[in-house]
Amino acid sequence: MPPIDAPTMAPTMAPADAEVVIEEPVLAEPTLPVVADDRPLGPTGRPMPLLPDPKPVTEHGPARVISMCNQKGGVGKTTTTINLGAALAEFGRKVLLVDFDPQGSLSVGLGLNPHEMEYTVYNLLMSRETRLDEVVVPTGVPGMDLLPSNIDLSAAEVQLVHEVAREQTLQRVLGPAIAHYDVILIDCQPSLGLLTVNALTASDGVIVPLECEYFALRGVALLKNTIDKVQERLNPKLEIDGVLGTMFDGRTLHGREVLERLVQAWEDKVFHTVIRRTVKFSDSTVAGEPITSYASDSSGAEAYRQLAKEVALRCLDA
Ligand SMILES: Nc1ncnc2c1ncn2[C@@H]1O[C@H](COP(=O)(O)OP(=O)(O)OP(=O)(O)O)[C@@H](O)[C@H]1O
Ligand SMILES: [Mg+2]
Repeated sequence: MPPIDAPTMAPTMAPADAEVVIEEPVLAEPTLPVVADDRPLGPTGRPMPLLPDPKPVTEHGPARVISMCNQKGGVGKTTTTINLGAALAEFGRKVLLVDFDPQGSLSVGLGLNPHEMEYTVYNLLMSRETRLDEVVVPTGVPGMDLLPSNIDLSAAEVQLVHEVAREQTLQRVLGPAIAHYDVILIDCQPSLGLLTVNALTASDGVIVPLECEYFALRGVALLKNTIDKVQERLNPKLEIDGVLGTMFDGRTLHGREVLERLVQAWEDKVFHTVIRRTVKFSDSTVAGEPITSYASDSSGAEAYRQLAKEVALRCLDA
């Protein structure tokens, strides 16, 4: 896979152009072209596949563990963790979300107060006496639980350095949860440090959320390199489950060009589902609930339901 980086983008996509295009007051989206088999092209420029509802499950487990990973901040990792989790739970999957970011945004986004947590992922990582079931809390979404975090987790990054098998700590503590859940989604912090390496070591797959914006493509080669190293040295089963375009604005040429470049570089790994930019996501974070319940009929909620179907088809029901 050719690495994507700023220099290779430059000839076709000058950032200066992009700024001009973004400010164009173009309101209507272009009509999507139709391909030979009558399926319209999706926002990634490829024919949209038919996505069936995920298969119903009668019993739960073993879970597929998936990390949301991108060292760039603010690309939609936490938003995707909450809303993909909630959408999979709507389809009857038992979901555990792991807040693995000392910022604790996932926990706050699900209505928890960071100062009122009795146990957090930190206790689970650092003390062998803490049991997983003491830390897991239910969320407002039926079928979806959370392992919460707060700023305490930042100390773990330093303390883990001295531990035996420091990269495998999260994998060890999540062990007892695998049999009880269908999916475990880990919300990583925006760095490629030891916590993120722990998340990748504990995972079967990675989803890379990427903002559909020129600068978002910088550093993707470094992320790919980290994933490859973890796969080679620590976790041979690790796969890239998909690359997700977020905060897409289909009215601008710029957003569409970024998606085109993503597909050139990551080919089939790019999800057909793309998450559009809408203010409803920040509103639902303030409300402390997923968009699938806060604004159940919104396009944002529908987009995450569609992503849930795509994830199920690709790596849960396969
Ligand atoms: N599709 C979207 N449209 C508009 N706003 C969005 C969208 N997705 C996320 N946001 C908003 O963008 C901000 C950053 O999103 P989010 O917290 O999910 O990113 P992140 O990658 O987890 O950030 P960090 O790296 O800091 O953990 C939040 O305020 C969120 O509400
Ligand atoms: Mg986050």
